[in-house]
Amino acid sequence: MELMVNGRAREAAVDDGDMPLLWVLRDLLNLTGTKFGCGIAACGACTVHLDGAAVRSCVLPVSAVAGKAVTTIEGLAAGDKPHPVQAAWIAAQVPQCGYCQSGMLMAAAALLARTPKPTDAEIDAAMTNLCRCGTYQRVRIAIHQAAEARA
Ligand code: FES
Ligand code: FES
Repeated sequence: MELMVNGRAREAAVDDGDMPLLWVLRDLLNLTGTKFGCGIAACGACTVHLDGAAVRSCVLPVSAVAGKAVTTIEGLAAGDKPHPVQAAWIAAQVPQCGYCQSGMLMAAAALLARTPKPTDAEIDAAMTNLCRCGTYQRVRIAIHQAAEARA
């Protein structure tokens, strides 16, 4: 099956269209920046973009992404230039253990693409990802910083 991932056409040896996109990304395409947390769309660790929108790849059958653009954390930066959320995450020292953070970054980037200057309430509504290290306050600060940087 051919997939468009991070701007490139990729061939994946998919033998079951019901296989979750997350499995294809990690096990077949070796894109391991996207994480498995819960497998039931509850935690957001597996968040990627599908045509620019944040989706939870652990519950998305790969057959549903045919002809659509998938972006993973590996493709978020523009070449060597970090995405504004990545730069803000570094400046605000957001991550603790880091496990949830690629999903957080993808959710934050999708939020800023549709809402360039989100309020705290809009951030809280959009960022439903779970972080067992409790980085929520720094996530919010970094999203505001990234919004300023993009202005
Ligand atoms: S692993 Fe997909 S939402 Fe938790
Ligand atoms: S930084 Fe550890 S789970 Fe979020």
